Amino acid sequence: MIDITTKIASLKLRNPTILASGIMDEDAGSMKRIFDCGASAVVTKSIGLKSREGYPNPTFAELEHGILNAMGLPNPGINEFEGEIRKLKDSNVPMIGSIFGSNSHEFVELSKKMQNYGVDALELNMSCPHAKGYGLETGSDSKLVREITSKVKESTSIPVFVKLSSNLTDIIEIAKSAEDGNADGIVAINSVKAMKIDLELKMPVLANKTGGYSGVAIKPIGMRCVYEIAKNVDIPIIGVGGVTTGEDALEYIMAGASAVQIGSGVYYRGVDIFKKICREMECWMENHNYKRLSELIGVAHK
Ligand code: FUM
Repeated sequence: MIDITTKIASLKLRNPTILASGIMDEDAGSMKRIFDCGASAVVTKSIGLKSREGYPNPTFAELEHGILNAMGLPNPGINEFEGEIRKLKDSNVPMIGSIFGSNSHEFVELSKKMQNYGVDALELNMSCPHAKGYGLETGSDSKLVREITSKVKESTSIPVFVKLSSNLTDIIEIAKSAEDGNADGIVAINSVKAMKIDLELKMPVLANKTGGYSGVAIKPIGMRCVYEIAKNVDIPIIGVGGVTTGEDALEYIMAGASAVQIGSGVYYRGVDIFKKICREMECWMENHNYKRLSELIGVAHK
């Protein structure tokens, strides 16, 4: 029997595959479906204090080796989202509430509400690569990262994960700031800031001009970030970026991740990707005589 259970802070997961924020996570029904398809936990859409429409279309483009998108953090606002979280809680789906804000007051208010509604952990989105005043703009300032993380930790009792961007001058410095603020884990990475020009129109394909690139092309970038963070912090890491197969997930685990998130992979392999990846991991482990996933976490550092 192969044991692929994992633990991130106090969060015990039946396997290391988690639904990443931004994919099929707008309502309780779709998140429950993803859980039923094998994911061990789901991350909600990133939620702010007030509703946001997001950017005008086009917001999405499939490129040769990945997906480019700039949605603009559209969401109904935390009060409207309460019902979805409560419904999912009733279904016993492990839930990580993703939130974004522009300062520690906003993050604290959102965190308290998320915890009251019933999420099992929080993901602080400090990495959206293109939202003005949010995401990467908060996540690039090490003092602000420490302040937001510590204030959220002081006002909540569930695990707090900080999601970081690869578009940082020094991801290690920012990861250490999150750790100093008592984060329970780091999530790395968000989509990579990118753009595409339409030759015929002679203009960017996205209405927002720049967006975030995800999918297989960014896996080596995510891997480098997870590896470097793992060398420099002691808290658990959740790897994200281009995970499409069991082998991809195992690479992240060997780089130091305790779990992985899957987003674009759902687009490429369907909602069953979580089960498929788990089976592929187990198969590799069986062929290489590993019985527990925990034996593989961070082995690439030895
Ligand atoms: O466009 C978006 O809403 C992206 C969000 C994110 O990358 O966190």
